[in-house]
Amino acid sequence: MVQMAPSVYVGMSADLIHPGHINILERADELGDVTVGLLTDGAIASYKRLPHMTYEQRKAVVESLKPVTRVVAQETLDYVPNLRELQPDYVVHGDDWRTGVQRETRQRVIDALREWGGELVEVPYTQGISSSQLNESVKQIGTTPSVRLARLRRLLDTKPIVRLLEAHNGLTGLIAETVEVQRDARLVEFDGMWSSSLTDSTARGKPDIEAVDISARLSNVNDIFEVTTKPLVFDGDTGGKPEHFVFTVRSLERLGVSAVIIEDKEGLKRNSLFGTEVAQTQSTIEDFCARLSIGKQAQITDSFMIIARIESLILDKGMDDAVARAQAYIDAGADAIMIHSRRKEPDEVFEFCKHAEGFSKRVPIVAVPTSYNQVSEDELADRGVNIVIYANHMLRAAYPNMRKVAETILHNGRSLEADQMLSPISEALAIIPDNR
Ligand code: SPV
Ligand code: MG
Repeated sequence: MVQMAPSVYVGMSADLIHPGHINILERADELGDVTVGLLTDGAIASYKRLPHMTYEQRKAVVESLKPVTRVVAQETLDYVPNLRELQPDYVVHGDDWRTGVQRETRQRVIDALREWGGELVEVPYTQGISSSQLNESVKQIGTTPSVRLARLRRLLDTKPIVRLLEAHNGLTGLIAETVEVQRDARLVEFDGMWSSSLTDSTARGKPDIEAVDISARLSNVNDIFEVTTKPLVFDGDTGGKPEHFVFTVRSLERLGVSAVIIEDKEGLKRNSLFGTEVAQTQSTIEDFCARLSIGKQAQITDSFMIIARIESLILDKGMDDAVARAQAYIDAGADAIMIHSRRKEPDEVFEFCKHAEGFSKRVPIVAVPTSYNQVSEDELADRGVNIVIYANHMLRAAYPNMRKVAETILHNGRSLEADQMLSPISEALAIIPDNR
C-alpha cells in the first residue's frame, strides 16, 4: 500500500515574500505535502491594508516556491472553512500570532484541528525581518502613478466601504497616509484622500466658486503625492467648460489621481452646503450627460473613474429627479454616483440607496456625511454606500485653533499663554522624520 504523505496547510498573504516565510514553508515541507491557503484581497483588507500585489500576482509567486505543492484561495481571515474542507494533518504558522490581532484566529485553528486530530506547529518568529518593516520601506520608496491610480478600483472590489479623508497639502496628506488606530481588535486607517474644492479654496483665502484654477489645484495634488502612496479622489466642481474638462481628465490621470467627481451644476457654482440660500443652477440632464461622456472619451486608462455628483437633494428638486438623473448619468458612462445631501439625518441618502438597487447597472455610491455626521460607516455600508468622504475635516480642525492662538498672542502681548494650544517644538519637528 502506498503511504500518502501527511497534508500540511499554511495560510499566508505572501505580498512581500521574505526569509521568515521561506523558513515557515521549509518547516512545513519537512512535515508533508504543502498547501498554501493564499488570503484573497478581500480577506486581507478585512484586517489590514490592501496588499501591494493582486491575488493573481501573489499566487504566481507562491506557486513557484519549491516547498509549495499547491495554492488554494482562503476567502476569509478565519482559516476554519478551508481547514474543515481539507482536514490537514498539520497547520504551520509563525509563533508571532499568539498575541495581537490574530490571537482569536489562532484559537479557532486549534479548536478546528482538534475535530480530526490535526496539529498546529508554530515556527519561531524570524528576527530582523517582517512584513510590516518591508511595508514601511515600500512606503518610503513611494509608488507610481499607475499603481496609485488603480488602487481605488481594487479597494472598491475588496472593501465593504472605502474611507477617504480630505487633504489640502502635504501635511494633511501625511495624516491621511499614516494615522491608524486599533478599533475592535482591527487596525483601521484611511484608504485614500479627497482633494476638496472647498478646502483648497479656503486654504488660499478664497471662496469655493471655482476661482482657484486647475493648475493651483493640481499643484496641491502634486504636493500631496510627493509624500503619500494612497489613492486620491479629486473634486472637479462642475468640470468647467466641457472642452477644458478633457485636459483636466488627462492631467489627473497623468498624476495618478484615481477618480474625478463632477457635479451637475452650471454657471457660478457655490458650495453645496449653502443649499438654496444662494442662487445655484442645476444643469439639464442632457448637458451634464454630454459633459460626462466627453470626459469618458478623454481618459486613457481603464482604471480612471468619472463620478457623477447629483445636486437634486441639495437644491430641493426631489428624490424622483435625483433617481432619474442617476439612471441617465449611468447610461452616459458615469463610473459611480455621488449623492449629496445637507440634511441633518441620513434618511434621504438611504432612500436614494434603495432606489439604486433598481438601476440598470450597479455602480458604486459615494456619500459625504458632513451634515448627517451621526451616521456610522457600518450603517452607510449596510445601506449600499461604497465610498465615504470626510470632506473638510482637516481644514476645519486647524482653523479654530489657529485663530485662538493668534488671539491669545494679541491679548497677552506675548506667546507664553498660547503654548498649551501648541505642539512642543520637539513634536513639531518629529512630524517630518527627515527633519532629524
Ligand atoms: C468639497 O469638499 O469641496 C465638496 C463637498 O464639494 S461639499 O463641501 O459638501 O460641497
Ligand atoms: Mg467642492
